[in-house]
Amino acid sequence: MSTAWTSRYAARTKGLTSSAIRDLLKVIQKPGMISFAGGLPAPDVFPAQRFAEACHKVLTENASQALQYGATEGYEPLRELIANNMARYGIKARIENVLITSGSQQALDLIGKLFINAGDHVLVEAPTYLGALQAFNVYGAEYLAVPSDENGLRTDLLEAPLRSGPKFMYVLPNFQNPAGTTLSEGRRHELVLLADRYGIPIVEDDPYGQLRYEGEHLPSLVVLDRENLRRDNGYSIGNVIYLSTFSKTLAPGLRLGWIVAPPEVIGKLAQLKQGADLHTSTFTQFVAYEVARDGFLDSHVKLIRQVYRERRDVMLQALQEFFPPVVTWTHPQGGLFLWVTLPRGVDIEAVFRTALEQNVAFVPGTSFYAHDGRRNEGRADDDCEGCRHMRLNFSNATPEQIREGVRRLAAAVKAHLSQSIVRLELKL
Ligand SMILES: Cc1ncc(COP(=O)(O)O)c(C=O)c1O
Repeated sequence: MSTAWTSRYAARTKGLTSSAIRDLLKVIQKPGMISFAGGLPAPDVFPAQRFAEACHKVLTENASQALQYGATEGYEPLRELIANNMARYGIKARIENVLITSGSQQALDLIGKLFINAGDHVLVEAPTYLGALQAFNVYGAEYLAVPSDENGLRTDLLEAPLRSGPKFMYVLPNFQNPAGTTLSEGRRHELVLLADRYGIPIVEDDPYGQLRYEGEHLPSLVVLDRENLRRDNGYSIGNVIYLSTFSKTLAPGLRLGWIVAPPEVIGKLAQLKQGADLHTSTFTQFVAYEVARDGFLDSHVKLIRQVYRERRDVMLQALQEFFPPVVTWTHPQGGLFLWVTLPRGVDIEAVFRTALEQNVAFVPGTSFYAHDGRRNEGRADDDCEGCRHMRLNFSNATPEQIREGVRRLAAAVKAHLSQSIVRLELKL
């Protein structure tokens, strides 16, 4: 008798869906497709030669350790390199504050596992990172979704949801995924003070902070938390857990990220990580350390900034040239994405299908809302915010492809805009 697997799935798997983006990645493999859909780095800037040399060095000089099981917290020299690197951005973590994870995505999963009981509320931005929603959904999270604008999370709308006692806030201050916006300095201070006043911790997800193309670096929440609140005993206490990754600065295929937290939280997360994968690949950590050391990471980040700044500018220029004036978009100061807003009444899923026919892909905004973009704090129930947005990635396509892709996308958008105007007129 064959097993009825589906009847045996645990209750927490109910309602789980595959990531819209990972599904999309399959469709966009099609030849001739120009994709603004994924969050993929440019493969032409992967430092392949440096990786080849690092692999050779690790295997000839240190194979007995690099191919062995390792500590759950991670390879010490790599944790130290990360701590030193973060210190330059004001984040003064000690090695015992750093846990290496299998990408930031695992960090999000471990955080969900540590903090979320089914039915607990997590405060998120609207829109927010889809992968975080996916990670937290498994643990039965409910959401308080607070709108953001061009200056990031609307801190003026935070008090009521904070008073209702969410387990934590999940915030992306730098070059947000998906909106490309940056939380202003004033709002950063406000957020940290509110977190302290209401006793609600913050999970600060920062994969893009180093990829700034214009303007000054703004202090991380984890830094402000320490400074504003005069926490003088380092990261043994604090309201902020900070996450980052090598995915956008070295290569996402490494699957290497990290968590900065007080040591007792790191200890608990390490116990949970043991149940998941014992530790992140030792070999990968050794190789990443060899690649990143002696200032290579810094010089490589400089190169990436140049390449992506140019691509961002080409996309902004093409949007200006090809899109009709009723369409608006964000001007990201860094990161990989910008966020396009279409007039109300446009069917974004229909635009998406037309765009695919024209061989250009993006991610419809609906994917990035905790409640399908329909039930956010301060918005009416029938107001589907996500329905009129597109997330566009500018790191992966070449400048020529970006221009051509935006031209195709503009044609798809214009076709639907004229249809929705006809629909509106018929209604009137
Ligand atoms: C905001 C955010 N957090 C986490 C991740 C996951 O990154 P990683 O590749 O380190 O798992 C991403 C990836 O795009 C991201 O955009």
